[in-house]
Amino acid sequence: MKTIRIPARSMYYGTPVALVCTENSDGSDNLTPMSSSWSLRDFLVLGLGSASQAMENLRHRPRLTVNLPSAEMWESIERIAAFTGKNPVPDHKAGQFSYCRDKFEVAGLTRLTSTEGGPSRVAECPIQIEAVVNTMTDVSDDPEGFSVIIAKAIVLHAAVGIINETSGQIDPAKWDPLVFSYRTYHGLGPELGCMARSVRS
Ligand SMILES: Cc1cc2nc3c(=O)[nH]c(=O)nc-3n(C[C@H](O)[C@H](O)[C@H](O)COP(=O)(O)O)c2cc1C
Repeated sequence: MKTIRIPARSMYYGTPVALVCTENSDGSDNLTPMSSSWSLRDFLVLGLGSASQAMENLRHRPRLTVNLPSAEMWESIERIAAFTGKNPVPDHKAGQFSYCRDKFEVAGLTRLTSTEGGPSRVAECPIQIEAVVNTMTDVSDDPEGFSVIIAKAIVLHAAVGIINETSGQIDPAKWDPLVFSYRTYHGLGPELGCMARSVRS
C-alpha cells in the first residue's frame, strides 16, 4: 500500500457520537455533542474541550449522562453543533459558535429524568448511561486545550427495541450508532463478522 504524509491536526477517524448532559450552576442542564470517547468495561473515557460548558460543569458537579444517538438522529445533533452553553462564548469560539441556553429544545430532543439523581437523559437516544467522574486530567490549560475524563457508569438504560430477546443484552443487529468520521456522519454498514471468542456478559 502506497502512503503519503498529510498534516495530522484533526484525526477524527470514526468514533460514535455521544450527547453528554451535565448540570449548570443554576440546576439547569447542558447538552454537549462529542465523539472523542471510548469505553472499557464499565468505564468511559471522554475528551472534552477545556473551555466547554461541559467541562465547567464537571469540575464542580461531577455527574453526567452519556447518551448515544442512533444514526437516524444525525440532524438533531447537527442542529446544535454550532452552539455552546458557555456565556459569554469563549474568544477562540466566538466566530463560529453562539450561546444557547436550551440545546434540548433547539435539537428537538426530550429530557428524561435520571434514575440515579444525575443530569437528564435524552429520551430519544437508545442507550443512556448515567455516570460519575472518576478522574479528570487537563491535557493543556490553554483555552483551546482539552481534558480527559474517566467516568464510571452507574447504570445503563437501553431501549427495548435494541435488546436481543434471548440474551437480554444489546443486539448489535438492532443497534445502529451514529459515527462521526472526518466531520461527516455515518451509520454502520452490514455486519462483516463476529468475534469468535465467547464473551462474558
Ligand atoms: C459530532 C460532533 C462531535 C464533537 N466532538 C467533540 C469532542 O469529542 N470533544 C469536544 O470537546 N467537543 C466536541 N464537539 C464540539 C462541541 O460540541 C462544542 O465545542 C460545543 O460548543 C461544546 O458545548 P458546551 O460548551 O455547551 O459544552 C463535537 C461536536 C459535534 C457536532
